[in-house]
Parts: sequence; structure tokens; C-alpha cells
Amino acid sequence: MATRAFEFIRRPVRRILKSRSERKLVRGIKVLDTAPTSLLDNVEWLEGTIRSIGLKYLPPPYEECYGLDARYMNFHGDGLFQIPRQFAKFLSLVAMHRPTTFIEIGTNNGWSACVAAAYLRRFNPDFELTTIDIVDHFSAWPRVARLLPLKFVVGKTSDDYAGKAFDTCFIDGDHSLAWVDRDFRNVGQHARVCAFHDINDSLTDINDGAGSRTHWNALKASLSDSSTLTEILDHTQSRSVMGIGIFTRRD
Ligand SMILES: C[S@@+](CC[C@H](N)C(=O)[O-])C[C@H]1O[C@@H](n2cnc3c(N)ncnc32)[C@H](O)[C@@H]1O
Repeated sequence: MATRAFEFIRRPVRRILKSRSERKLVRGIKVLDTAPTSLLDNVEWLEGTIRSIGLKYLPPPYEECYGLDARYMNFHGDGLFQIPRQFAKFLSLVAMHRPTTFIEIGTNNGWSACVAAAYLRRFNPDFELTTIDIVDHFSAWPRVARLLPLKFVVGKTSDDYAGKAFDTCFIDGDHSLAWVDRDFRNVGQHARVCAFHDINDSLTDINDGAGSRTHWNALKASLSDSSTLTEILDHTQSRSVMGIGIFTRRD
């Protein structure tokens, strides 16, 4: 009985907090849409914009993974599941290539996809981001669908796009070595820029057998003259959290 009464109060409170965080996302999309061109190349500005949109709420002790950025979590709400500086540096690097097409493997709550789509279309009016997931966790989708050049596809994996060449690929789905490798073979290797999330994440190492890190290290070992690798490992407390590895083809 007490549990049901508690749920009765908790549900509307959750809805209010969720709606509040989604309003911050929409405001952030507008900021990215209207910012002066002179600001777009400024990584500190982009990092600040990501912080102002807010990070996904993680209860203690998990919020520690954000380091000092934990203060930018949306209280009991949704948000980006990123280290702001890492994601800002990643998007700035991708923007230099002015991509038209981008695929994200693993949408989850969709906030990273929203920020990437809003930012990258400023560099190319034909830009379109496709984000795929085997499950629908994107609860903000109805609110943002018409605001962004974003295609959200549920129930598909990289197998459904095998051999298709996107300008940019962001691999962040199943983090087992078998799937990271499969995502790379299916779509990553055909992209000019292919990024991998969690190449330096101690928690992913424990939970998913270090698939992202192992695949990244193997890619590093087999690097040829026709490609470059960039590692983005920033963390306010120099901890091994997330990390983005970027493989860029030169040809
Ligand atoms: C770490 S989350 C993605 C986070 C998201 N990219 C972001 O930046 O917030 C991983 C997601 O991948 C999805 N997923 C798991 N296996 C997958 C697969 N084989 N193909 C596509 N998505 C997958 C999960 O349902 C989950 O939502």
C-alpha cells in the first residue's frame, strides 16, 4: 500500500523532471542552430553548450564517472551520457570534414545524436544523421523529431547497413569485441571518419570484456599510411572514463 502511494507521488514528479530536462535539450538545439558562425569552431564554447544542455542523471556513486562535470547532470532527468570536453572535441574534428551523412550505432536516449545533428548541420545544410538501436530508449524523440535532420531507426543493427558508405560513423552499440568488430566491418571501415566510444573506459572493460578498447588497440597496431588515429581521453580528474577513438581515412 505504502509502495503504491509512493509511486502515485513519484510518477508525476518524474514526468516533471523529464519534461524540464527535455526543455533544456530543445533550448540547446536552438542555441546550436542560431550561434554566430564565429563561435562554431570554439571547442570551449561547444563544451559549455553541452554542459548547459545537461548530462544524464546517474545516482551515487556512479555520478563520479563524470568527475567535476557531475555538477552538470540534469537532476533525476535525462541528458547526454558523455564527457562534455570529449564530445565537443569529437564533434569539432568531424565538422572539419563537413559530412553529409552520419550513422550512430546505439542511440540509447538520443541526446548525443540530437546535439551532433544540431551542430553538424551548421557546416553542411544537406547534413543528415541516422541513428539506430535494437531498442527504443529515445523518449524525447516526439519532441525533437521535427527540429533536426535526424532519422531514428529502431530494431536494426549494422548488419542492415552492411557495405553502405556514410561519411561518418560513430560506433557505440553492443560493446563486446565481436559486435564492435562487426560494426566496423559492416559500416565503420567504409566511412571517411569512424569513431569508437569507450576506448578508455574501465567500467566497460569490466562489463563488456573491453571490446571497444581491444578493438581500438588492434586497429592502432595495424595502422597504415592511408589512415590516422586520434584519441580523445579528456577527463576533469584524469580518470579512464569513456574516451573516443577516431579513425580517419586519408584517401
Ligand atoms: C552506450 S548506449 C549508446 C549511447 C549513445 N550513443 C549516446 O551517446 O548516448 C548503447 C546502446 O546500444 C544499443 N545496442 C546494443 N546492441 C546493439 C546492436 N547490436 N546494434 C545497435 N544498437 C545496439 C543498446 O540498446 C543501447 O541503447
